[in-house]
Order: sequence, then structure tokens, then C-alpha cells
Amino acid sequence: MVCLGNICRSPLAEGILKDKAQKAGLNWQVESRGTGGWHAGNLPDHRSIEIAKERGLDITDQRSQKLTTKDLADFDLIFAMDKANYRDIIAKSDNPALEQKVFLILNEANPESDRSVPDPYYGGENGFSEVYDMIDKACEALVQKHLQK
Ligand code: 4NP
Repeated sequence: MVCLGNICRSPLAEGILKDKAQKAGLNWQVESRGTGGWHAGNLPDHRSIEIAKERGLDITDQRSQKLTTKDLADFDLIFAMDKANYRDIIAKSDNPALEQKVFLILNEANPESDRSVPDPYYGGENGFSEVYDMIDKACEALVQKHLQK
């Protein structure tokens, strides 16, 4: 799960997908990263921690990490929160095969819509609830798709 800072959106995505995968009995390793490293080592944004807590998830075990080229090789699926994240991920590698495992997260619930999870960092508290719901719906669709396989 990849966003820009790995403090707002992708920590929620990590927490949500881990929870759903575990409840579905899927043995997935779910992690999150930021394309930028400014917040490396930091806790998720307090607004992400709070909205997750309201929805029953504790994401305070997470610390921001910058995406590396090793991550691109290690993970089977890579989900970008927005289109800029998608472009930044693809630009980190000259391997054309990478495109086959990098996806926009919201396309899981709304295939080919190419929508982005809005960056809530400079917004108020309300944006986080909306962002949570969008990611939750996408992760639910992702898990259901894999259960049907
Ligand atoms: P995120 O949000 O990409 O959802 O973690 C942001 C966090 C920090 C910054 C930008 C977006 N920043 O510019 O520091």
C-alpha cells in the first residue's frame, strides 16, 4: 500500500487490509510505504490513528517507511493511493514487468475508473472519514476477488 508520506492514507490501507485478510483466513503479508521519505520513522498522522480507532483498528504499531526498489521486487501486488503515487512507483524501476503488479487501489472496487484517494493531509478531520470509507470498500473488493479464485 503506497502513498506519498506513508502517514495518512497508506497506513489506513495497511491496517484495513491486514484486518480483512486475517478475518478472511488469508495469510497475506501487508505493508505500507511512502514514495517520499520525509516522515520516515514517524507514527501515522494523529487523524488517521483516530479514525482507525473509531472504526476498531489500532494502527499505532506502524512507522513510516520510504518505498525502495527492493520492495518493488519483494511484493506480489503494489497498490497506489493516487495517480501521482502510481507514476512515482513506476518511475523507480526500468523493468517494464513492474506495471503488471502495480494498481490504483480504488480500481479494486470500481474497475478502470482510475480514481485517486484524495490526499487528506492538508484538509480537516472530515476528509479522513471519507478516505477511510473509500479504502475500506476497495480492500473489501480486493479480498472478495481473491476468495473467489
Ligand atoms: P499521505 O499524506 O501521502 O496520505 O501520507 C501526506 C503526508 C505528508 C505529506 C503529504 C501527504 N507531506 O507533504 O509531508
